[in-house]
Amino acid sequence: KMNIIVVKDSLAGGRKASELFYSAYASGARVFGLATGSTPVTTYQYLVKSKIDFSNCISINLDEYVGLKPTNEQSYRYYMEKNLFEFKPFKQSYLPQGDAADPAKEVERYDRVIADNPIDLQLLGIGRNGHIGFNEPGSSFDLTTHKVALTPSTIEANARFFEDEKDVPKYAYSMGIGSIMKSKSIILEAFGEDKANAIYDMVEGDVTEQCPASILQKHPNVTVIVDEAAATRLK
Ligand code: F6R
Repeated sequence: KMNIIVVKDSLAGGRKASELFYSAYASGARVFGLATGSTPVTTYQYLVKSKIDFSNCISINLDEYVGLKPTNEQSYRYYMEKNLFEFKPFKQSYLPQGDAADPAKEVERYDRVIADNPIDLQLLGIGRNGHIGFNEPGSSFDLTTHKVALTPSTIEANARFFEDEKDVPKYAYSMGIGSIMKSKSIILEAFGEDKANAIYDMVEGDVTEQCPASILQKHPNVTVIVDEAAATRLK
């Protein structure tokens, strides 16, 4: 069963997650799967302030926009540099390379990175529709790393960050659900009332590809950290 921890707010959640990172590290974890977005920001803030030393660790991120250079301020590489890596460098930090010349080769390379460095602890956020990584409802539970077409609503939501509409990414690289399920342990964080339905479906709903995160019910070591607002529909 999923281990569910309800906290007051995203600060308390980030603190809790950073403590779980620390205890995983203390018991030997050296490969950390990381996420971007608004949810893990407080976790990274606490990790930056903590004594944890990642210089002998490896990080592997979930996803990246296709077409963006690592220096692009909208890239997930840039987000990771600014939120974590500049303060807590890892021995090696992997993300899919947005500007890779050959997408098929890039997807293969990333699967090899994950196979060569089995993830000890994977940090996840969740979308309002239950997505994890860029695995939207309907994606197969068996997928490994793949190139995903962004939905029109995601493209539209991202447009405000770009000067020119044609620069808005139309695709992303994402670990698949199959890759995510291979990590030894998982922490999923969700904060705010707009995540309450997704959390309910993930924890208490059927395991179905219509709610990608519901597959986590079948993973042996998942900790869900939710604030009170995201937990409102849980029994
Ligand atoms: C980010 C990622 C996404 C987000 C999700 C929630 O690397 O893979 O699945 O975790 O979209 O985003 P936020 O945290 O911005 O609500």
